[in-house]
Amino acid sequence: MNISPNRRILLVDDMPAIHEDFRKILIPHALENSDFNDFEAALFGDTPQVVAAAFELDSAYQGQEALAKVQSSLEAGLPYAMAFIDMRMPPGWDGVETIERLWQADARLQVVICTAFSDHSWDEVLARLDVRDRLLILKKPFDAIEVRQLANTLTTKWELSLQADAHLTRLETAVLERTREITRTNHALQTEINERKLLQEQLVQSEKLASIGQLAAGVAHEINNPIGFIFSNFGTLKGYLDRLFNMLALYQYAENSVNTPEFAAMLQDLREKMELDYLKQDIPQLMDESMQGIERVRQIVQDLKDFSRVDSAQGWLMANLHRGIDSTLNVAANEIKYKADVIKEYGAIPEIECLPSQINQVVMNLVVNAAQAIGTQRGRITIRTGMQDEQVWIEVADTGSGIPPETLNHIFEPFFTTKPVGKGTGLGLSLSYGIVQKHHGRFEVESVVGQGTTFRVTLPIRQPVQRTEERPA
Ligand SMILES: Nc1ncnc2c1ncn2[C@@H]1O[C@H](COP(=O)(O)OP(=O)(O)OP(=O)(O)O)[C@@H](O)[C@H]1O
Ligand SMILES: [Mg+2]
Repeated sequence: MNISPNRRILLVDDMPAIHEDFRKILIPHALENSDFNDFEAALFGDTPQVVAAAFELDSAYQGQEALAKVQSSLEAGLPYAMAFIDMRMPPGWDGVETIERLWQADARLQVVICTAFSDHSWDEVLARLDVRDRLLILKKPFDAIEVRQLANTLTTKWELSLQADAHLTRLETAVLERTREITRTNHALQTEINERKLLQEQLVQSEKLASIGQLAAGVAHEINNPIGFIFSNFGTLKGYLDRLFNMLALYQYAENSVNTPEFAAMLQDLREKMELDYLKQDIPQLMDESMQGIERVRQIVQDLKDFSRVDSAQGWLMANLHRGIDSTLNVAANEIKYKADVIKEYGAIPEIECLPSQINQVVMNLVVNAAQAIGTQRGRITIRTGMQDEQVWIEVADTGSGIPPETLNHIFEPFFTTKPVGKGTGLGLSLSYGIVQKHHGRFEVESVVGQGTTFRVTLPIRQPVQRTEERPA
């Protein structure tokens, strides 16, 4: 290990003679004729000269002075590695207090406390100082070799502790960085898991919707045929009845010409009993009502077909959204007119590539939901359109009940409804969501309970890929 040497030592002693002694021991040119070198060479070989040459000795004669030196050495970036401190230094601080103060200034400072005798018990000294491993005791009279060895060992220890701290800091930084990395990875993983969950949910949802669509298409197909012939038969029946009524009118007229009075009376009696006049009035009415009923069933079947797209005559078209919204509002007028005023705030938008009947479905669901969210007090439904970033948006805003936050997460789920049985199936929004997804668009909802809700559908002007599979066969 390459240790950059900090050999700075502070001697704190009130006796100038002691400073002289230490200088002789620790500074090589003060060591001439000293038998110390010989002694150390005998113990450690020829190297100690080099080590000895590295010490720098500084002197303080009182604790306060020592503190000032320690502080200025720190400020200069040249801290002392260690200090020799005398136990008794009248009139100032004693050794223990000096050590306390010095450690407050520089906790890393290694200390040797020098004493001829102890007027403190050592236990007391150790209790007063938070010693850990920074304090050694040197008893007077001391040997030069003890001083040299303490100086060597403690200055080296100072270096090592510095390096250990640096190493620790590096390790801590590395651990911190690694922890951050793991947190990042964790976060990314969680995001991916969430995205996958969402995708899976959407997949399940779209599969459900597809099977509902198929079911609807199947039912529509089955109803379509009988409705077709009932409708056409009704047309024919109506013609037949007209002819029969004409004939009856003639018969009635002929009644007067019947010569047999009993027979004429019988005819009149029968006519009155079967209320022929009433039938003549009521049958056409019944026929008309039935025709209207059949017409409605036909429309429902057509809607079902459109809705399931199976029989849709429309493929992807460039279509004018405003026209679609207007016709949808007409269809939904019955749902809306008793509950809300409709305000249109159309912006300038281009035609967009879409499946128009499906976009109508979306608008229809939103508008009907909006109307249903408005209570007994008459409200407002505002329909806005506009353009942003090459995309077109449609907004349906109501002044209805609003949606509580805990419900908001569920409204796009199939069969989620807060409406009474028979009023809502909970499919409107999930179907709309599927349609908007298919158009590469997106849904946004903002809602304040008690104030109202705004749904926004954003759609691209052109579809990103040619949707040949979507085109009608
Ligand atoms: N504009 C709105 N204001 C308040 N709540 C709404 C609004 N739109 C939707 N919701 C809530 O979302 C739920 C789901 O709506 P969705 O259109 O999917 O089903 P539904 O309207 O209940 O039934 P369906 O549309 O099948 O007749 C509703 O039951 C309602 O609680
Ligand atoms: Mg709905």
